[in-house]
Amino acid sequence: MEEKKRLVLILFLSFFAVGFSKIVGNKVGDFFVDSGSFISSVFKNPKQMGAALPSTPFLAKKITKYIRGSKRQGTKILEVGAGTGVFTQELARLLKKDDVLDVVEIDSDLCILLREKFCGYKNIKIHNVSILDWNPEYKYDYIVSGLPFNAFEISFVKKILYKYQRFIKDTGIISYFEYAVVPSVTKFLMTVFFMNERKEKYVEILNETKCFRSSFKVYKKELVLRNFPPAYVHFMKKQSFL
Ligand SMILES: C[S@@+](CC[C@H](N)C(=O)[O-])C[C@H]1O[C@@H](n2cnc3c(N)ncnc32)[C@H](O)[C@@H]1O
Repeated sequence: MEEKKRLVLILFLSFFAVGFSKIVGNKVGDFFVDSGSFISSVFKNPKQMGAALPSTPFLAKKITKYIRGSKRQGTKILEVGAGTGVFTQELARLLKKDDVLDVVEIDSDLCILLREKFCGYKNIKIHNVSILDWNPEYKYDYIVSGLPFNAFEISFVKKILYKYQRFIKDTGIISYFEYAVVPSVTKFLMTVFFMNERKEKYVEILNETKCFRSSFKVYKKELVLRNFPPAYVHFMKKQSFL
């Protein structure tokens, strides 16, 4: 029975992925293959993945916006939770000769896929490790985070955010995304189904990320509608302006 349910869900998500790829104007084949790898990782570890489908190139463009617009040299970039590499693809396009892109991804199957996809880029390094175990010797100019904070435990979220604070240069920019509407709907459903304890934990995480954002001098958020679900991208900087 459990197997049957999984099969139906895989079929549903696969058809959905093909339809969705037409909407986002991506090459159907690429998106389908990526979605297949993504979905199989979702089945292995749904909490860790925290999403049913990869982000769209539109979200990738937005989350890397400030990297695209910058005049720079020898830039250090950290991408956390790359999945099938939608953001990595966009970052790869933006990399200059002396830049370094560290990609930290916990899922080993996804790391194999990422290594295949980006083997031609000398300055992209794929690290199969949890961000909690990542201890670089330098600080970053940009951190692009694809982690599903709202799906994690609060203690884990606190540790990750602390790491981001430590890893980013004073002049650096952190960006991460959060699905729009989903937090309100989740809270509503948890209220309707009397899941009070879970709701409390969920609200605690929302407050923690809010508190993190407000600890930066500069903060901005932008909505991306062409993603499923639509998402906000949050940008933060310790100094100056965006
Ligand atoms: C929501 S997916 C986002 C993937 C991709 N950035 C995108 O937007 O399509 C989250 C990714 O974070 C990875 N991840 C989860 N926990 C992690 C951790 N502790 N360290 C590094 N990566 C992690 C998951 O394996 C997954 O690939």
